[in-house]
Amino acid sequence: MSDKVRVGLIGCGNIGAGGHAPAYLSVSGVELVAACDILPGRAEAVARLTGATAYQDYREVLARPDVDAVDLCLPTDQHASVAIEALRAGKHVLCEKPIARTLAEADAMIAAAREAGRVLMVGHVRRFDHRYTAIREALRAGEVGRPVYLRRAERQWLPFPADVWYWRPEAGGGVILDIGVHIADLFRWYLEDEPISVYAVGRQVRRAAREANSFDHALMTFHFRNGAIGVAEASWAYQPNYGGALYAELDVVGTAGKVHYSDRDTNPLLIYDAEEGAILPRYFRFMSTTEYAFQAEIGHFVECVRTGRSPSISPEDARAALEMALAAQRSAETGKPVAFSLEEAP
Ligand SMILES: NC(=O)c1ccc[n+]([C@@H]2O[C@H](COP(=O)([O-])OP(=O)(O)OC[C@H]3O[C@@H](n4cnc5c(N)ncnc54)[C@H](O)[C@@H]3O)[C@@H](O)[C@H]2O)c1
Repeated sequence: MSDKVRVGLIGCGNIGAGGHAPAYLSVSGVELVAACDILPGRAEAVARLTGATAYQDYREVLARPDVDAVDLCLPTDQHASVAIEALRAGKHVLCEKPIARTLAEADAMIAAAREAGRVLMVGHVRRFDHRYTAIREALRAGEVGRPVYLRRAERQWLPFPADVWYWRPEAGGGVILDIGVHIADLFRWYLEDEPISVYAVGRQVRRAAREANSFDHALMTFHFRNGAIGVAEASWAYQPNYGGALYAELDVVGTAGKVHYSDRDTNPLLIYDAEEGAILPRYFRFMSTTEYAFQAEIGHFVECVRTGRSPSISPEDARAALEMALAAQRSAETGKPVAFSLEEAP
């Protein structure tokens, strides 16, 4: 390997061009040398920004011996096939969330990484975002006691027309898979525990969702082994004029206090003590941007490639988040709670 990790970005759409590509310009020890998209204009735009070479066929990127790693920002149903091909070609893989569309695909990716002896890291970007890492540090420090109740909302107006893959359940899994994996991973990460059951309700609000027979609004209740409950709302159907195109909220209620985060409040994050009330000011720690989170995520991946360290988010963590989201999807489809394989539902 040269002194820099050389990466090929595959998929230069929304998150590839907007989130990952600019981050490569400010992370040290890495160079984006290839940018690939089946739509040549998209690859060329990233190439102009970063100095990478543009490609239309990802196999040409995999064939380059000087490419150490690939960064997959592809539609969800293509994660597994391209990741496995890349791992077999000896490349390390950073893959956008969800790890894959199905558990069988996730298992095949994990096995391929093990056989190839290469890093497989899934981009659960919340784990690299100041706001959410700060909350995790507060929880680990016992600032609110033992977390017993989590309430999370991620609401947005999916800005894509009906013919985009996001709306097709077989490609993206609908809102429960796409946003649900973020929430599932956050719950497991904060609670440091495994779920035992989920009950979910899904709705088809927008015309695109009804036409695709896909949920674009969902409510989910996860029960954890330690007795904690996580309640979540995930939506692609919140009109921008309902209060912003992206809207995230979080409460973590513990035995000795509460963490509250909202990206709409003036003080976006407050930590409450059960006796003292709100503790201020705290938010100077939480003024992170998504841009920073992508830099931190890519920086961590590069460090793992260079040192052989295992990523702080393991592929098994990403699989567990997928399993939770798929179980929620099954619950919403059947109208019944779904128990995880570990134990019986309560
Ligand atoms: N971490 C996050 O917060 C976050 C946010 C958005 C999306 N994502 C995830 O990122 C992935 C991509 O989402 P997106 O919004 O960027 O989608 P997108 O449709 O905007 O981008 C995907 C790109 O891949 C290209 N593409 C498709 N097949 C290809 C192939 N075989 N070879 C090369 N290019 C190909 C498309 O032309 C498109 O430009 C999804 O899995 C999504 O869940 C994560």
